[in-house]
Amino acid sequence: MPVILDGKNLRDELLEELKNKLSSYSVMPKLVVILAGDNPASQIYVNNKKKTAEKLGIVSDVINYPATVSENELLEKINELNNDRAVNAILVQLPLPEHIDKTKIINAISPIKDVDGFTPENFGKLLTGEKPYVYPCTPKGILLLLDKYGIGLDGKHVVIVGRSNIVGKPLAVMMVNRNATVTLCHSHTKNLSEITKTADILVSAVGEKLIEDNMVKFNGVVVDVGIFKDETGKTRGDVDFANVSKKTSFISPVPGGVGPMTIASLMLNTVELFDLQNQKKS
Ligand code: GUN
Repeated sequence: MPVILDGKNLRDELLEELKNKLSSYSVMPKLVVILAGDNPASQIYVNNKKKTAEKLGIVSDVINYPATVSENELLEKINELNNDRAVNAILVQLPLPEHIDKTKIINAISPIKDVDGFTPENFGKLLTGEKPYVYPCTPKGILLLLDKYGIGLDGKHVVIVGRSNIVGKPLAVMMVNRNATVTLCHSHTKNLSEITKTADILVSAVGEKLIEDNMVKFNGVVVDVGIFKDETGKTRGDVDFANVSKKTSFISPVPGGVGPMTIASLMLNTVELFDLQNQKKS
């Protein structure tokens, strides 16, 4: 049986360390989350983020907007938060309602408060190999998890399925920067399973049932970023865990794998931005 990449356990360890670090702070970092519309998954994520922040003493505000909110209203709020010295980190929860140009919204966030690392300045730095203010939360969490279990990247063939700006693209760059050979697959990829079968490390970030046992390499590592409810209402990931886990050396479960690591990374990023804004050495 494979080793389970336990994101909950590592999250707890990282948050405990962070809580200790924060105990010496006289002013607490502040994270503001903007949530537009009533996407049920987003509401759950945002609640989790708020609860976790509260446990650490990080101040967190969630600003809710109806799905009908205008682009200008959001831009004005972001401008106000950019100029508010008490706010250290800004997160605009995605997806945004269809009529909103998400690029315009993300680009309005001050790069030093961009806790997702999604702005062109941070993404550009990532691409050129310069250090961004912070790294995107889910890719950062995946790398922390692989590091924790001693899974190296140098010279490995990593196959990532899913090319989103949130996970696939930044993760591909971060892994290349760590000397992995990366293949980035997506919905137009031909012969997907021929490619995934060659992966030393396979990362699936699609959000639908996709990875079966005949698509993975024997003794490979499988990281499942997908999370959704199946026909019976059970929470699951992209990977057929029961069968795939029989073949792999390491596998991340859903729930309890990458999800908790994303939240831990968000907390780490919030504190990193606070420190940068206050020139603290960590
Ligand atoms: N929606 C799903 N994942 C994320 C994330 O990491 N950041 C933001 N802002 N929205 C998301």
